This record gives sequence, structure tokens and C-alpha cells, in this order.
Amino acid sequence: GAPVEVDISTLAPGEMRTVEWRGKPVWILKRTPEQIASLKEVDPLVADPESKRTQFSTTPEYAMNEWRSRQKDILVVVGICPHLGCSPTSKFQTGAQPSLPDDWHGGFLCPCHGSTFDLAGRVYKNKPSPDNLQVPPYMFEGEAKLVIG
Ligand code: FES
Repeated sequence: GAPVEVDISTLAPGEMRTVEWRGKPVWILKRTPEQIASLKEVDPLVADPESKRTQFSTTPEYAMNEWRSRQKDILVVVGICPHLGCSPTSKFQTGAQPSLPDDWHGGFLCPCHGSTFDLAGRVYKNKPSPDNLQVPPYMFEGEAKLVIG
């Protein structure tokens, strides 16, 4: 398929946009400085903090880090649960909430079997998803344009 070009110049901090790439939803989240800082606190709670696993899928090298992205503020992930393919929902509100881990810093919850992912798409420990959310191939062209695929 053809690469998908997205104008990210109007994306506000804390805003998420969904685009379609090869028939799949891709989420683009512009993380706030607080959201970026929260990733470090979630490190001990997630199964594969730097996406080093290769058993299920391989994360592009530029996303093998705790924020899982080329640019710390911009998250680009496929919005499909690696367990059995359901669509996780965004849960950006922080703090204690039903079905979410204690001390929730924001992220995504899969309604099918309860896998939780942080704001970098990293799966929490002891959840059914065998992997973090997939990072698609992408690059930036200048400040404003994101090219996926
Ligand atoms: Fe997401 Fe099972 S499909 S937890």
C-alpha cells in the first residue's frame, strides 16, 4: 500500500488522532511533558520496557526505547491489541479507576480480556497481550509531516 501522509502541525499536546494505514487504525498521540515523564514511573510495571522482545513482533530500532518513538512527544502505534485483535480504548484520565492498574498514568485498555497499555503502548505485566502495541514504519518530513509506511 501507499504511505499515508499526516499533517501533525495542528495536533495539540494531549491530542490523539486516528488514521488508517493498510486497513488498520494507527494512533498518533502528541504526549504532554507530564505524559512523557510518566513513562519512567511505569517502567517497572510493564513487561518489556524498551521493546527488546522479538518473539512476537519486532519493534523498529528507532522505537526500542522507553517512549517507543522517534520523537519523545509523538507516539505512533497500531491501535489493535496484539492478543486477539480487539480495539483498545483510550483512558487518558489518571488515578484509580475500575479495571485499571493502581496508580494509573494514562494509556489504553483492551475491553476484550483486560490488557492494559501505557502511553507508549507498552503492555503491563501479567496481561494476556503477548506484546506491546505495534509501531509501524514511519518518518518525519520536516516539523509538520508524518509519513507512515
Ligand atoms: Fe485484547 Fe484479548 S484481545 S486482551
